[in-house]
Amino acid sequence: MKVLVICTGNPGKRKEIEEMLPAAVRVLVPADLGIRSELPETGATLEENALEKARHVHQLCGLPCMADDTGLEVNALNGRPGVYSARYAGSANDPVQNMTKLLGELEGVQERGARFRTVIAFVTKEGETCFEGRVEGHIAEKPAGDGGFGYDPLFIPEGREETFAQMDPADKNAIGHRGKAMARFLEHYRSLG
Ligand code: IMP
Repeated sequence: MKVLVICTGNPGKRKEIEEMLPAAVRVLVPADLGIRSELPETGATLEENALEKARHVHQLCGLPCMADDTGLEVNALNGRPGVYSARYAGSANDPVQNMTKLLGELEGVQERGARFRTVIAFVTKEGETCFEGRVEGHIAEKPAGDGGFGYDPLFIPEGREETFAQMDPADKNAIGHRGKAMARFLEHYRSLG
């Protein structure tokens, strides 16, 4: 059985990634390997952060490691919060605080276009590869739905009327940023045999 370490402490992210992986892959998270410290995210881009997290864990365990870094880029905020989406309203990464701050900054703003962008880094003994996925959409006037995680209750993908948090999880994975990055990752992963 192939082992893959998903370098995240975020249960929502782990669940989505695990649901998209073949059943034959044994998934581990850093805590399963006794790695309990916070993963470093000091980069200026999603790619730098994803690579930093995957490299960090790979150096500690030597196993194939994948890490996802995701940002919400809001047009009216010139792409913010972007790479700082987790720490947007402070270091706690509290989804309610982050969404409240976002709605405050967008109060009275008509142009609410935004996108989610995910970069997945895959680090093994053989080398490093990155895969990107993005989805366009807009920011709702108020949160709706209790599925998903993070900013999902505020994000309405293009062509839809409901937020990610109102959708079936499989539907979010099929059209979302992480699903698209995962499809690219899986093509590569399967090609490794
Ligand atoms: P990070 O990639 O773990 O640094 O996450 C960045 C921020 O975006 C965190 O506040 C996450 O909760 C949030 N986030 C990451 N992925 C998603 C998603 O798929 N939907 C909504 N919010 C997300």
